[in-house]
Amino acid sequence: MRMLLRQQSACLQFLTALLMLTAMFLLSVVTRAKNKDWQHDRLKLLTQAKPLQYSTMAPPHTRHPLEVVYPYDYQFLLNEPDKCKKAPFLVLLIITEARDTVSRNAIRKTWGNESYFPAVPIIRLFLTGKDPIFTASVQDTLQEESNTFQDIIQQDFLDTYNNLTLKTLMGIQWVNQYCPNTSYVMKVDSDTFFNIDYLVHGLLRPELPVRERYISGFIVANTGPLRSKAYKWYVPKEIYPNDTYPPYCSGVGYVFSGDMAKRIYDVAQGLKVINMEDVFLGICLYELKIKITKPPPNIFNGHRIDYNKCRFKNLIFVHHYTPQELLQIWPDFQTTTACS
Ligand SMILES: *[C@@H]1O[C@H](CO)[C@@H](O)[C@H](O)[C@H]1NC(C)=O
Ligand SMILES: *[C@@H]1O[C@H](CO)[C@@H](O)[C@H](O)[C@H]1NC(C)=O
Ligand SMILES: *[C@@H]1O[C@H](CO)[C@@H](O)[C@H](O)[C@H]1NC(C)=O
Ligand SMILES: *[C@@H]1O[C@H](CO)[C@@H](O)[C@H](O)[C@H]1NC(C)=O
Repeated sequence: MRMLLRQQSACLQFLTALLMLTAMFLLSVVTRAKNKDWQHDRLKLLTQAKPLQYSTMAPPHTRHPLEVVYPYDYQFLLNEPDKCKKAPFLVLLIITEARDTVSRNAIRKTWGNESYFPAVPIIRLFLTGKDPIFTASVQDTLQEESNTFQDIIQQDFLDTYNNLTLKTLMGIQWVNQYCPNTSYVMKVDSDTFFNIDYLVHGLLRPELPVRERYISGFIVANTGPLRSKAYKWYVPKEIYPNDTYPPYCSGVGYVFSGDMAKRIYDVAQGLKVINMEDVFLGICLYELKIKITKPPPNIFNGHRIDYNKCRFKNLIFVHHYTPQELLQIWPDFQTTTACS
């Protein structure tokens, strides 16, 4: 009898373990799939799969699961406090997931090369949080990568889609704290073809006086929160009660003058942070009464355009490029045959 009981309980333990493993696997698949969707598609209002279940990571009781906890004293797990020795022209804040070494390596070899312009100092930083699933193993890899390249900053919040705002705010905090005299800052997603030459010499232009209270990007106006839970971009009334959003720059990429880091950081401390990072920046601009500068047409592209060298020479970014594609395109993009 005792034998039978022991066998039964061993069997039960095995089943429980199997169930937990399956659940973990499913969660990881869902997270990956969600993170592969891209912000800009919000505009197309595609029907999305059910949003991530947060029950396992939601903080206790009253707080809405999508609420972004801020202000809060997040600690730097990886930092580069001495990277900005003298004021650079540009700080690149590149949004990546902790586990995405492949994208970071492709960017280091292509548009994120800090020595790209001998006369224009550029600082490259990848922004990450803590991997929500494989926390310890991803952290080991990330630490090693950080030792090698010294271009990663990370705070101790979970790296999830609904925490993206924290990632941007971490980057802005870093600039404010460690590099306040940079002329410009560009925030850009990692899955993007990025023509840094056009940004620097076509739009910002080091020979001009540095602008102030300046921000530019792909302007999204006359929109409001999606109230259906079916959307990845769901924002409940508890998080943001108004029916409309102020104009904002699409989160795929936007550029602002160095003085803005302090302005945005300071105003953010007193606002309710929402889970859409680009919208939240728009809310900060609304509070600051700063208007987004309209860019020349078609230089910021949230949708994919097929590669064409001469077309790509005259724009700043195109969204939805994989690391493999970047590495493949880059040598051709660097060739100097004329474009009319
Ligand atoms: C970065 O650009 C410089 C100058 O063009 C080049 O010498 C260097 O090999 C590039 N670095 C990488 C990692 O591609
Ligand atoms: C954001 O990160 C915090 C801190 O790690 C965590 O408690 C929270 O659950 C995360 N929020 C979401 C929506 O993932
Ligand atoms: C930034 O510039 C100001 C004014 O020129 C200067 O006083 C300050 O020391 C600089 N800060 C850093 C961190 O370089
Ligand atoms: C939200 O609505 C309130 C009340 O109408 C208004 O005072 C506030 O400025 C609005 N906020 C934004 C960001 O539009």
